[in-house]
Amino acid sequence: MDLHLQGKVALVAAGSKGLGRAVATGLAREGARVALFSRDAERINATAEAIKTETGAEVLPLVADVMHPEQITAAIDATVKEFGGLDVLVTNAGGPPPGSFETVSDADFVNAIELNLLSTIRLCRAAVPHMKEHGGSIVTITSISVKQPLQDLILSNTARSGVLGLVKSMANELGKYNIRVNNVGPGPTRTDRILNLARARAERDRIPLEDALTESAMGIPLGRLGEPEEFANAVVFLASPAASYISGQTLLIDGGAYAGTL
Ligand SMILES: NC(=O)c1ccc[n+]([C@@H]2O[C@H](COP(=O)([O-])OP(=O)(O)OC[C@H]3O[C@@H](n4cnc5c(N)ncnc54)[C@H](OP(=O)(O)O)[C@@H]3O)[C@@H](O)[C@H]2O)c1
Repeated sequence: MDLHLQGKVALVAAGSKGLGRAVATGLAREGARVALFSRDAERINATAEAIKTETGAEVLPLVADVMHPEQITAAIDATVKEFGGLDVLVTNAGGPPPGSFETVSDADFVNAIELNLLSTIRLCRAAVPHMKEHGGSIVTITSISVKQPLQDLILSNTARSGVLGLVKSMANELGKYNIRVNNVGPGPTRTDRILNLARARAERDRIPLEDALTESAMGIPLGRLGEPEEFANAVVFLASPAASYISGQTLLIDGGAYAGTL
């Protein structure tokens, strides 16, 4: 299937590693011109170089922290200046720290909302004016937790739920401009975030890392962690014109882990 991404302009937030990097790579493989940003200049430059070498695509590395609204606007502006427009936005950020209702503070909630909800709002706010004339596609990255709250992750469970309301509302309001808005929720996927959590558990329980990783995959019908590329394949499709009649949806990429029926 031709995804019709050749020559399209995409911006991927938080793209220096993990899921964001895999999505940026997937878009570049399909011939998109890709801007990507994160906070660490060395890491984002190295990632951009690697994607360029692998795919031959035009890749623009940018430094920005989603906690700073002006840096978000600057990243969108730099993308439009370099590539002459914006067709695809993929929102992403790091995850908030673990914690339960009785251990986290109001300040922790405020930080999580800034990191995972307000960053998404601000990225969309800066991107939409550039999509109104020709249409566009926005894909937000959240978590399986938007459908199935995860234990000891109350900050993520709470802040990410707001993204669902945002996505559905924006899909309703912006459809008239042919702007599609969808959300993807990863289940456990083999990135540094999951490896670090497993490493900590392996040390605590004095078990080999592989055993801790196997534990992370327990309860997943497919019996294993996801790979970043498997997650990226779904995002690239939703971002592409091949998904031209899909908007306002949430898709979990979780190996079947979500236990509900809807
Ligand atoms: N992997 C999973 O299994 C999984 C499951 C559910 C949800 N998620 C969520 O999906 C998102 C991506 O996860 P991941 O596994 O890819 O994590 P990761 O491997 O730790 O990568 C996180 C990325 O976010 C960037 N980043 C972090 N904070 C940022 C900020 N304030 N501004 C800009 N960039 C920032 C990091 O780059 P720099 O350090 O260079 O800034 C890095 O590129 C997270 O929100 C995570 O909680 C992941």
